[in-house]
Amino acid sequence: MKSIDVIERKPSLEEYIQLRKSIGWKVMQYDAIQTGLDNSIYCVCVEDQGNIVGCGRIIGDGGTVFYIQDIMVKPSYQEQKIGTLIMEKIMDYIDSNCKEGTIIGLIAISELDKFYKKFGFIYNENNRFYRYR
Ligand SMILES: CC(C)(COP(=O)(O)OP(=O)(O)OC[C@H]1O[C@@H](n2cnc3c(N)ncnc32)[C@H](O)[C@@H]1OP(=O)(O)O)[C@@H](O)C(=O)NCCC(=O)NCCS
Repeated sequence: MKSIDVIERKPSLEEYIQLRKSIGWKVMQYDAIQTGLDNSIYCVCVEDQGNIVGCGRIIGDGGTVFYIQDIMVKPSYQEQKIGTLIMEKIMDYIDSNCKEGTIIGLIAISELDKFYKKFGFIYNENNRFYRYR
């Protein structure tokens, strides 16, 4: 039986790599990952009997920009509202810590419009994201 806990904590390097691999995302250099995790503003992990099954992070400057990153749920746990639990925690943090005018954003593929719309995120086709190299 699943015993799901939502915990405000950073994933360890190993946990983060495990989650990325499970969903088929590229794994970056380990020291870069560790620095990224350390510099996160807020992290939440979901565990099933102590084993990580999902996580999410907020990155940004903690004042003018909050950026939602790495919402990841292990495939065998997807479509069971774990992503929703992660986003609820993240939005609670943002609601308590953002100021008027703070930019709150994320980048997602269009298939996830439905998932993020529930939390108030709407794709604006006038905003274009440029990636260097
Ligand atoms: C996207 C992701 C985090 C969603 O987590 P989840 O636990 O499966 O989502 P939930 O069960 O909480 O779903 C909530 C709602 O979003 C919808 N949804 C979730 N994933 C979806 C998808 N890939 N496509 C369309 N709708 C989706 C669900 O159908 C559900 O709708 P409902 O409330 O009407 O039933 C998870 O599928 C995942 O880790 N995907 C791979 C990594 C990824 O793409 N992360 C997002 C980066 S921007």
